[in-house]
Amino acid sequence: KCVFKNEPQLFLIGFMGVGKTSIAKQLEKIMPYEVLEMDQKIVDDSGMSIPDIFEKYGEDYFRNLETNLVKNIETEFNTGKKYVVSCGGGVVVRSENTKIMKRCGKVVLLTASPQTIFERVKDDKNRPILNGNMNIEYIEQLMQKRKALYEDVADIVITTDSKDIQTIAEEIIHNI
Ligand code: S3P
Repeated sequence: KCVFKNEPQLFLIGFMGVGKTSIAKQLEKIMPYEVLEMDQKIVDDSGMSIPDIFEKYGEDYFRNLETNLVKNIETEFNTGKKYVVSCGGGVVVRSENTKIMKRCGKVVLLTASPQTIFERVKDDKNRPILNGNMNIEYIEQLMQKRKALYEDVADIVITTDSKDIQTIAEEIIHNI
């Protein structure tokens, strides 16, 4: 496993379907880091699926769970253990979250074109934000709305269109 300068805690952010989960897993393979998958942690802790949480309690409730988790992650970092946090795509919509992320880790923004995203998520029933709006135009709109939020918190930006997971992971390691 390779080790690099200062070994910061890492947050992977970006729109649904940019590959945060698979890239986090790849980084875990090649660095002494452990993956912390935010959505999975929320599912494990609540005993509900993401679509069920949205349907039963609404988006605000989900965002509260997400914010509590970001706060817990900051505390967990104090153990000294190194994590690569695969964030939910909407983590940047709360400035409380991005403030914490900025102060306790390096933030890697992964991007892809709306076309690429659409191809990757179109058959996925696990993304309630896109329910009833599974089309390139809506994806483009929402991406545009979030663009500045993603870019403001990012330390580095990596495009993922037509690159394999290993190449992306290496790019992150070399740029962080
Ligand atoms: C969301 C993205 C999802 C999940 C939830 C909301 C969003 O995570 O947290 O459905 O608002 O963009 P992924 O980016 O892992 O799909």
